[in-house]
Amino acid sequence: MAQNEKNSPMSKVKKAIIPAAGLGTRFLPATKTVPKEMLTIVDAPIIFYVVEEALNAGIEDIILIQGRGKSAIEDFFDTSYELEDKLAKDGKFQLLERLKRIRDMVNIISIRQKQPLGLGHAVLCGQTIIGNSPFAVLLGDEIMVPNSGGPNTTAQLCRLHEELNSSVVAVMEVPPSDVSKYGIADVVPYRDGVFKVQSFVEKPSKELSPSRWALPGRYVFESKIFEELKKGKPGALGEIQLTDSMNSLTQKQNFYASTFSAQRFDAGDKFGYLRANVELGLMNSELRKEFSKYLIEVGQRLQKETGNHS
Ligand code: UTP
Repeated sequence: MAQNEKNSPMSKVKKAIIPAAGLGTRFLPATKTVPKEMLTIVDAPIIFYVVEEALNAGIEDIILIQGRGKSAIEDFFDTSYELEDKLAKDGKFQLLERLKRIRDMVNIISIRQKQPLGLGHAVLCGQTIIGNSPFAVLLGDEIMVPNSGGPNTTAQLCRLHEELNSSVVAVMEVPPSDVSKYGIADVVPYRDGVFKVQSFVEKPSKELSPSRWALPGRYVFESKIFEELKKGKPGALGEIQLTDSMNSLTQKQNFYASTFSAQRFDAGDKFGYLRANVELGLMNSELRKEFSKYLIEVGQRLQKETGNHS
């Protein structure tokens, strides 16, 4: 993946929380023993791409929120001297550098979320490490791939936070039929691609949704969000929703939303996961030629099949 410009060296956002403690029920049976965030996209686990985005945005400390049986994630970011030695001996320096860069440049702190009480609760688990600083949140199952030369979404949010001194969230426009799958922001225009948020609502019905601006899982928060999260009560599904606390915060502080240009994949969903593998497979220089040829063949076969059926 291309490296991106970091957020400004003066940016105050140096810490990020990556919640990865969910049960991943949509990926059962795979997630019975393997954390969803460790499922592979081409040649690296989902979480690797998320950590890489944080690193490329200038984040120095990553607080990984983990659940039971998720030590595989912690082990993944640990050093494997034997493996590094082997890669060096085999001359696989590019791969070695990629592994070492993550290991050397990011400080990963693991926190256990004892029960999966929802995303809001997962973020609250990071409070002791974050303290009073602003911080980023990157969902551990959402991948953002910048377009060539384009900005990294987390870096974009960090810069906006620096400029506006307020919490900011990434938003994307979804079709009306999809609003009930997301947290939705009610916004007014601020300037090109940036909005002022009036309120947030979690998974509204198509009829009641205030807009089509959905939250894809990238945030920068002022630490005051923790006060709101502490007041959070579990909803119907027994989960403390992050969106509810964000909504309370909009009543007390300015809150902005920004569009982004990166390609986004919801790798926590089967279709999104398959799309991510196809698109990142096509971006991989070793695979591109053979894989495109294969996809063209599949396309032709499908066209023939559907043609025969119509
Ligand atoms: P999701 O709702 O997509 O994850 O949360 P989930 O609950 O694991 O998914 P399904 O519906 O059962 O398949 C988005 C992110 O927040 C984390 C998840 O690990 C995921 O990366 N999360 C969610 C937590 O860390 N703790 C929670 O209590 C809930």
